[in-house]
Amino acid sequence: MTPKHHLETRAAHLEPSQVAAEISPLLRTSTTYRRDSNNQLMDPANVYGRDQNDTVRQAEAVLAQMESAAAALLWPSGMAAISAVFRILPIGSRIVVQSGIYWGTTFWVRQFCEEQGHELVEVDAANGSDLDRISAFDPALVFVETPSNPWLKVVDIADMRRRFPNAYLVVDSTAATPALTRPLELGADLVVHSATKALNGHSDVIAGVTLTAQLDDRWARLAQHRATGGAIIGPFEAWLLLRSLRTFPLRLGAMCDNALRLATYLLNHPLVEDVFYPGLPSSPYHAIATQQMQGGYGYLMSVLVRGDRQTALDVLGRLQVFQRATSLGGVESLVEHRHTIEPHTGIPENLLRLSIGIEHIDDLIADMDHALRGHSDA
Ligand SMILES: Cc1ncc(COP(=O)(O)O)c(C=O)c1O
Repeated sequence: MTPKHHLETRAAHLEPSQVAAEISPLLRTSTTYRRDSNNQLMDPANVYGRDQNDTVRQAEAVLAQMESAAAALLWPSGMAAISAVFRILPIGSRIVVQSGIYWGTTFWVRQFCEEQGHELVEVDAANGSDLDRISAFDPALVFVETPSNPWLKVVDIADMRRRFPNAYLVVDSTAATPALTRPLELGADLVVHSATKALNGHSDVIAGVTLTAQLDDRWARLAQHRATGGAIIGPFEAWLLLRSLRTFPLRLGAMCDNALRLATYLLNHPLVEDVFYPGLPSSPYHAIATQQMQGGYGYLMSVLVRGDRQTALDVLGRLQVFQRATSLGGVESLVEHRHTIEPHTGIPENLLRLSIGIEHIDDLIADMDHALRGHSDA
């Protein structure tokens, strides 16, 4: 098997990293490794389990190949991965972060930058004239999330590279995944994912991953930060992730197909005001999404229900196939009223964020239709 094989084929076989004769991945749980009678390590690659575990390494190798990365590091959550990227910056750095992204990131970054004396500018990175306004800023780090959660804005990664040639360009690609977009091929330096979402896809692992274009000094600092700071993923979580990665391209394909069909249906629904989904020609980000994303537009969308906050909450309450829960990227469809979570960020009160799973599309459409029309017997 080589990188020339399709993603589906490499994922099913866990290429490039299947290390033993077993067809399925091994779960290695040892926290430490033997030395011989001369005090020599029996396996020089393995000293102590905090930073050295072959199950974790195998998952990292599979992810690195999927993303066209030089290397990958797994972290115990998406936020651990994201926060590590900011922690390696010198005190008082200039930072640009996209506005209106995952609220957990914005919240953490604002607090961290204040504590560390970093100069933080938040900008709508999907809007050229907003970016023009900070053209003289010369940041050390630029952090974008595309498509963004929950606004579904798509950032032109190659354009960001052109605008900020000296910055460490970091892309949170959780909502795209390596099946749809490979930011490193478009000029990004680093990709992060919440692997909790579609990469694992079964809502049973919290994990994050950083993936680098080059084995440079910043990558070495990140690796050292993990090794000495101790923010590691457990081998069982890495093993569950490996298991899930074997079906990731198939799951993602089904989720994207469902999402496009549901978004198209909802946009034409009389009880829906608008749908934010980059796969819709009505989206202001459709052209750049079509250029930058291959094989689909993702599994995440936001729907503005025609009506007020209570109308949206009533629709939410009537859904029976969609589960009411936070998070995204699982095989099951989830719905969340984001205004309940982040009332102060300008999220419309009638917005429902949907994560689309692998159920039959007719069941998803029927569930939405009945919930919108006020029937509870769907
Ligand atoms: C786009 C995005 N990035 C990062 C995260 C954080 O990931 P985790 O929950 O694995 O820490 C989330 C969580 O919802 C997310 O949606």
